[in-house]
Formats: sequence, C-alpha cells, structure tokens
Amino acid sequence: MAKQRVLSGVQPTGNLHLGNYLGAIRNWVNAQDQYDNYFCVVDLHAITVPHDPKVLADNSYAIAALYLACGIDLTHSTIFIQSHIAAHSELAWLLNCITPVNWLERMIQFKEKAVKQGENVSVGLLDYPVLMAADILLYDADLVPVGEDQKQHIELTRDLVIRINDQFGTGENSVLKMPEPLIQKAGARVMSLTDGTKKMSKSDPSDLSRISLLDPPEVITKKIKRCKTDPTKGLEFDNPDRPECNNLLTLYHLLSGQSREAVAADCAEMGWGQFKPLLAETTVEALRPIQEKYSEIMSDRAALDAILRDGREKAAASANHVLAKVKAAMGFSVPL
Ligand code: AMP
Ligand code: TRP
Repeated sequence: MAKQRVLSGVQPTGNLHLGNYLGAIRNWVNAQDQYDNYFCVVDLHAITVPHDPKVLADNSYAIAALYLACGIDLTHSTIFIQSHIAAHSELAWLLNCITPVNWLERMIQFKEKAVKQGENVSVGLLDYPVLMAADILLYDADLVPVGEDQKQHIELTRDLVIRINDQFGTGENSVLKMPEPLIQKAGARVMSLTDGTKKMSKSDPSDLSRISLLDPPEVITKKIKRCKTDPTKGLEFDNPDRPECNNLLTLYHLLSGQSREAVAADCAEMGWGQFKPLLAETTVEALRPIQEKYSEIMSDRAALDAILRDGREKAAASANHVLAKVKAAMGFSVPL
C-alpha cells in the first residue's frame, strides 16, 4: 500500500525557536520514514505582515537548511519553497471565491495578529488560512503535523474540502482529499520563558522569552537562568497554578529524551537552583548537533540550491496535477 502523504510548513520569519522544533519539526523528523513527506518554507505567508525584502530570500534558505539540520532526510521527504510553485497562489484564489468572509474573521490567529497590526491589517492576513489550505490540498495530504495553534486552520481546510467536493465533485469523484491534523500532546504548545501562560512566539518583543535553535550555549544558559519560575520547592507537571513549572519540566522531558515519569520522579524534590543548570545543559547538548549540521549546510550554498531545485520539481508535479483537477471541476477552459 502507498504511504500516507504528509505536508507541513514553517514561515521564514526570524529564527526557529524551541516551540517550532518541539511542536512541529521534531515530530516531522521522528515519523518521516512512515510517510511520503512534503515540507515547505511558507514564504508567501511571511508577507502577510509587513516584511523586509532584503532578508526574505535569505531567511527562506536558512529555514530550509534548518529543516535538514534538524534531521529531515531526503530519502523520505521533499523540501521546497512555497513561492517557487505558482500553484499555491492560484489555488488560493480559487478557494477564496468559495470561502465565506466570516469564516476567516473568526480565526483566532487572525484576531490576535490583527490587534498587533493596528490600522495596518492586510487582506493577505485575513486570507492566510486559505493560502494554508491551498498548501495542504495541492499535495493530497492525509496528515498535517503542526502545533496546537494551527488546529483551527486545519479545521477550516476541512470545511473547504467539504464545500468544494459538494459543489464541484461528481458522484463518487471527490475533487480534493480530506486532511487530518496530527498534533502530538507533548510539545504542542511550548510556552514563553518569561510568562508560562503565553505561547513561545517569534513575534514576542522580548528575546528572553524564547530559545532559538541557533542561540549559542552562553545565550541559552543566560535565558534559562533568567526565565520566570515560582517560589515553590519541588517540581511537578500539570499543576494549573504553576504554568512555568509545567513548561520547563516538559522542555526537560522532551530534550533529555527521558520519560515523563522518570522526570517527575527525579525532579519531585528539586529546587530551581538545581534544575535550571540541568535544563540549560540539556538544551545546549540537544541543540549542539543541529547547530553544527546547520553551519555545514550553510557553507555549501550550491548543494542547498540543488536540493531545493529537486524539491521544487517534485512538488510542482503534484501541485500542478491537483490544480488542474480543481480548475476542470470548476469549469475553466483549458488553453489550447
Ligand atoms: P510558525 O512559526 O508560525 O510558522 O509555526 C510553525 C510551526 O511551529 C507550526 O506547526 C506551529 O504550530 C508550531 N509552533 C509555533 N509556535 C509554537 C509553540 N509555542 N509551541 C508549539 N508549537 C509551535
Ligand atoms: N500557518 C502555519 C504556521 O504559522 C504555517 C503553514 C503554512 C502551514 N502553510 C501550512 C503549516 C501548511 C502546515 C501546513 O504555523
């Protein structure tokens, strides 16, 4: 039987942080041999908020390099840059014309980001989930591994599949494949280091709130030393009154590779003075191989270009096929 298809992506807006890694990329890597995977760098999404054209292309290459550095293996996975394949924008347009505006106005991420943009909210920001639906649907993806914050966007994608298939499918023949979210419990929502009730985010103004995958050891150590804790001695998971404690223990559990039970037992009597250096060292060691591999990949730009060229070719074949199918179902003429 053919393997199930996986598609996911990350925006090239600044460096990836532990939330991106533990919520998304690490899970892609761990499961990649079970699936036929497509991982894109979603640069068209990155311009839905004001962006700097001088760094957009470099950031996209850097994210592709980080995918590889984190362990994406090209024998199981295809990596590519979203804007290199015009079908993404084109399918987004077709989907736009069947998407009710009020579905988009309800999206939590839109509401949160719109508040931050003030007067400067673009149509693109509202339309962001439709472009994301196009990303997923162009590859006939069965599964979409993401962090918890993307669940609502995948639900919208599913609603669009129902709508397109109802309106334009014929009998047994559906036009688009129904995707499912794949969200791992641990790591699905990594919280800020300065406030355990807010998610770790690229857009938080404080750099101390997140650990970037490329932070040098001394920066990681400093951030963990300064991170918010509480006055209680003894560390525990899942106490709703201790969000920072739960977050830091979860980081330790995921980065050390030890089970939750072992971590809970080991840390039950620990104070922060003992735990913080342990977490810092574990984080530095977990990120060291990624950082080394990243420098290696970035030092051979021609090799990275070749990987992205191959990825683009492979991805375009799938994307153009699905796009043609949707256009035919919607009744467009075929150019002669
Ligand atoms: P973004 O940085 O918004 O492009 O997100 C890329 C991926 O990382 C998506 O799958 C997100 O769900 C995931 N992600 C982002 N922030 C977090 C976080 N704080 N915790 C867990 N996953 C996250
Ligand atoms: N919206 C996603 C995020 O910010 C990124 C994304 C764009 C994505 N297209 C996608 C994720 C398709 C999964 C599948 O995290």
